[in-house]
Amino acid sequence: MPELAAVNGRISPIDEAKISINDRGMVFGDGVYEVIASYRGRLFLFDEHLRRLRRSLDAIRMEYVEIEPIAEQMNYLFERAALPRAKVYLQITRGTAPRDHAFPVPTRGPNVIITVREVHEIDQAKLDRGVACITHRDIRWGRVDVKTTNLLPNCLAKQAALDRGCFDAIFVSGEGIVREATSANLFAAKNGGLWTHPTDERILGGITRAKLIELARPKGIEVREEKFDVDFLLGADEVFITGTTTEVLPIINVDGRPIGGGKPGPLARRMLALLTEWLLMNVDS
Ligand code: PDD
Repeated sequence: MPELAAVNGRISPIDEAKISINDRGMVFGDGVYEVIASYRGRLFLFDEHLRRLRRSLDAIRMEYVEIEPIAEQMNYLFERAALPRAKVYLQITRGTAPRDHAFPVPTRGPNVIITVREVHEIDQAKLDRGVACITHRDIRWGRVDVKTTNLLPNCLAKQAALDRGCFDAIFVSGEGIVREATSANLFAAKNGGLWTHPTDERILGGITRAKLIELARPKGIEVREEKFDVDFLLGADEVFITGTTTEVLPIINVDGRPIGGGKPGPLARRMLALLTEWLLMNVDS
């Protein structure tokens, strides 16, 4: 079956989907989004993604949007595309109106875009060998806990990493606090425990991050949701990043300096194994 799009309920192949040039998402990045992966025919942690979507909509004053019919559309399109491993993208913007910074009055319906595409599995060599990252000043706005479509700083940082032959960039605050990667959360391992930035307004509260913390603690792996700086990162035994499309990916080099001997470590492998095991037990085929 093909990859599909739905724009305000109108289903088409992705290349034929259309949106107005007055869409506020296009003009202002005035919208929010979610990315959900499927495993064995089921959308991974769908309810958690919908809860985060509710928070994002409320944060940008689109509390009037009802999520349930949108969730039904997502499920419908996902089932219709019938892809073995799919990535469902949802974008909700503040609708179509002539360009004006003020919200359109009266508020017309939002524009709801859904796409279902094939997931390209993360390269096994990257998982086995790990990847290199750069650090990058975090120039994003002050509410990155809201999953908005305003991702220009993320795109610039990702490209800066690629230009230097690296996989990704790690956002660091002006005070040297390590936050997250451009589309993934970050964990550092030290003496058998894990450190990750707390879920405040400076990182996106990842669904994968939360699930990994929930799986790690009962296994006796201590997880500290505390801020740490670049020196701590560079001195960590292991570093890895986590996300819907990233899963658990080891970082073996930051700014040209090897992490933990320059090889993926046991905790990253263990966390990926815990996630995979949880998926197999909780997602029926
Ligand atoms: N990004 N941090 C940022 C900045 C992100 O954009 C993402 C996800 C994450 C991880 O969140 P989750 O585990 O819920 O996927 C952390 C998606 C995948 C994207 O923009 O494509």
